[in-house]
Amino acid sequence: MSTENHPACGTTEITTSTQPTASRRDFLKTTASGTAIASTTAASTLITNSFLARNAHAFGSDIIKVGLVGCGGRGNGAAKDAMMADAGCRLTSIADVFYDRLADGKKQLQKTLGNQYDVKEDQAFSGWEALDQILKTDIDVILLATPPGFRPAQMEAAVKAGKHVFCEKPVAVDPVGVRRVMAASAAAESKGLCVVSGLCWRYDYGVKATIEKIHSGAIGEIVSIQENYLTGTLWNRTPKPEWTPMHNQVLNWLYYRWLSGDHIVEQFIHSLDKALWLHHDVPPTICYGTGGRQVRTQPQFGDIYDHFSVVYEWADGTRCHASTRQMSDCYSETEDYVYGTEGTAKVLANEIKGKTNWKFEGNKPSMYQLEHIALMKAIREGKPINNGDYMCKSTLMAIMGREAAYSGQIIKWDDMLSSNQKLGPDRPDWGDAPAVEVAMPGQYKFIEAE
Ligand SMILES: NC(=O)c1ccc[n+]([C@@H]2O[C@H](COP(=O)([O-])OP(=O)(O)OC[C@H]3O[C@@H](n4cnc5c(N)ncnc54)[C@H](O)[C@@H]3O)[C@@H](O)[C@H]2O)c1
Repeated sequence: MSTENHPACGTTEITTSTQPTASRRDFLKTTASGTAIASTTAASTLITNSFLARNAHAFGSDIIKVGLVGCGGRGNGAAKDAMMADAGCRLTSIADVFYDRLADGKKQLQKTLGNQYDVKEDQAFSGWEALDQILKTDIDVILLATPPGFRPAQMEAAVKAGKHVFCEKPVAVDPVGVRRVMAASAAAESKGLCVVSGLCWRYDYGVKATIEKIHSGAIGEIVSIQENYLTGTLWNRTPKPEWTPMHNQVLNWLYYRWLSGDHIVEQFIHSLDKALWLHHDVPPTICYGTGGRQVRTQPQFGDIYDHFSVVYEWADGTRCHASTRQMSDCYSETEDYVYGTEGTAKVLANEIKGKTNWKFEGNKPSMYQLEHIALMKAIREGKPINNGDYMCKSTLMAIMGREAAYSGQIIKWDDMLSSNQKLGPDRPDWGDAPAVEVAMPGQYKFIEAE
């Protein structure tokens, strides 16, 4: 179930394939022991020995084996994107905590992936141990697409197991989780593993070109940014009598803070990430804001808010006014307005008005495919990419906004970085679920480091 509203998402199907070429095969030769060795070309210096050793399988067979954790709307979509990105990819293992979701995923993936679906019966796993089991298989890449509350533990385990990672956004729901993912991303870098983030706008040609223009001075100096993500409500799964409270929370994870981080983290992160990017990935120093739960007040909507309005301030005095709402039958708009000393820009509209007016007119392949093309290309070329820095900062920036609105206080970036807040267990028991309590500004306390 793909749930997000991406007004500027390109629709052109991409045809570029990173299928291995003859020259690449010449470049890499495989020894009898399966260890790839570089030819004498100058480019060989780009590939480190450890990287080659770890990727011997992928290079040796020209097949990149992919595993998926979380057979939901995005997970199944990501698997398809990965397969379309590289004709040499095969989906060889899948995992989902629920057996029936796994079975549905299997059926759907078999149908959409054709001969790139190569999951044997004993390579499909369910239950809380499914992650450990899938990591023991010989996959080269893992796609992490479960609710974000589980992501930090999954990232740690995936990197420890030596897998390249595609990591859906957000990467965590609390500061402790963000720090775990920061450490795992750093470990991935030192092991020569790729970490590619599901913050897909970073890969969109039009958005990228617009932000590059702004960075090169097309609207002068940035004075302020307005981020709007005003949208409708999302899905809600009707509970069945046999579901325990924990079943219900995990399946309706969007509405539980310990699983989704609230919608400012789960969805609005896309916009906050662009504000961060516009600031060259320098995070804001403080933020304050408001929010609440005005329409979605029924118990099935757990403990999350339905609107937030947060002001982020940077050390250089620039601000980002960030508003998000998930309510039906209201005005909808998703846009990033950037105001500069010499002009203005709309990032999602790919438009600049300033010294010279400009609009991106180029080809816009699907950004979802572009991120997987980048990942597979990096694996094949032995030039790891690591999106760990910005995916962690954007996640923390979104959590910071949530904590500001929940508490009604000013929240500092440095306090976020050191906060001991941890919202939920890595592997909960079925049965009882965490208490559901809506945050009341003025009463809710942000947890700082001890
Ligand atoms: N980049 C984007 O544009 C985009 C779009 C949609 C969703 N997402 C992100 O993708 C992730 C998944 O979203 P979705 O819409 O596919 O949700 P979903 O509910 O449709 O799918 C999640 C799946 O994960 C399974 N699951 C839950 N906990 C698990 C665990 N601990 N181990 C294994 N499996 C588990 C569930 O059973 C379910 O099948 C979220 O982080 C979401 O924010 C990103």
